[in-house]
Amino acid sequence: MSVEDDPATTERETAEEEAAGDAGAAASATPKLRAENVTKQFGRIVAVDDVTLDVRPGEIFALVGDNGAGKSTLMNVLSGVHAPTEGQLYKDGEPVQFSNPSDARAKGIETVYQDLALMDDLDIATNIFMGSFPKRGVGPLRVIDWNATYERSRAIMREQLGREMDIQTEVEFLSGGQRQLVAIGRALAFDPDVIILDEPTSALSVDATRLVQNTLDRLAEEGITIVIVSHNIESVLEHADRIGVLYQGSLVDIMAPSETDLEELNELMTTGTLETGLLDD
Ligand SMILES: Nc1ncnc2c1ncn2[C@@H]1O[C@H](COP(=O)(O)OP(=O)(O)OP(=O)(O)O)[C@@H](O)[C@H]1O
Ligand SMILES: [Mg+2]
Repeated sequence: MSVEDDPATTERETAEEEAAGDAGAAASATPKLRAENVTKQFGRIVAVDDVTLDVRPGEIFALVGDNGAGKSTLMNVLSGVHAPTEGQLYKDGEPVQFSNPSDARAKGIETVYQDLALMDDLDIATNIFMGSFPKRGVGPLRVIDWNATYERSRAIMREQLGREMDIQTEVEFLSGGQRQLVAIGRALAFDPDVIILDEPTSALSVDATRLVQNTLDRLAEEGITIVIVSHNIESVLEHADRIGVLYQGSLVDIMAPSETDLEELNELMTTGTLETGLLDD
């Protein structure tokens, strides 16, 4: 992350200009994910309003905003749940159209939903590989390769999530933070280069939140691009590389944590603008 401290540059550009013009090598690289003039309407409700947004390779991009600002809707457009009413998505510079989450998955985009959708009475390994079990044998004789399932689950837990956990433990016995890690593990089973998470820490204790955040930091260091919706502004300020603020469906600003603070973000989230008048719109 490179942000200029020059006071002359503190005057705010529009979110779009800032996203395009920020200094640093990452800014000039092809965006990992791009939404261009994306609008999503539900009947007469404009949930996402003409949003243009670049997510850079390997960054943690946090999306914040008040209730109903359109965060989940924008996530759902990026992850293939909703087709945009207008606008275009790009993955690694290529235009893409997603009719459903499987289309996004095929392009390396995995989503962790808030409800996690884990099967409580099944163990960690089975939950991680549910939907993508390693198989052995050929044709009609193909069966789930349980050895590979357990081995690869252990590897994901240990190497990517940094946890030593007994992967034969039923998920019902896990803490909230551990369950969240299993859900992230299931995303990792598809070997994605982008993981989208909607409010992954909203129901978690302080310790569990830290565990999940540290895990996301680790995955980003590994090169996985993380897009996260969060209400936890303090945590976002600590962990995100950039923060996008949605207000009534519009993206009103994109900032690095070093360029803003809790108070300013709260003001932007609740009013869509800053009283100081530094924002263009
Ligand atoms: N499937 C849907 N059908 C109709 N309206 C919807 C649908 N999904 C979202 N909306 C509307 O779109 C707007 C944005 O909702 P969204 O869920 O994206 O907000 P959010 O920022 O995720 O809010 P929260 O912080 O409460 O999760 C809201 O007015 C919501 O009522
Ligand atoms: Mg939401």
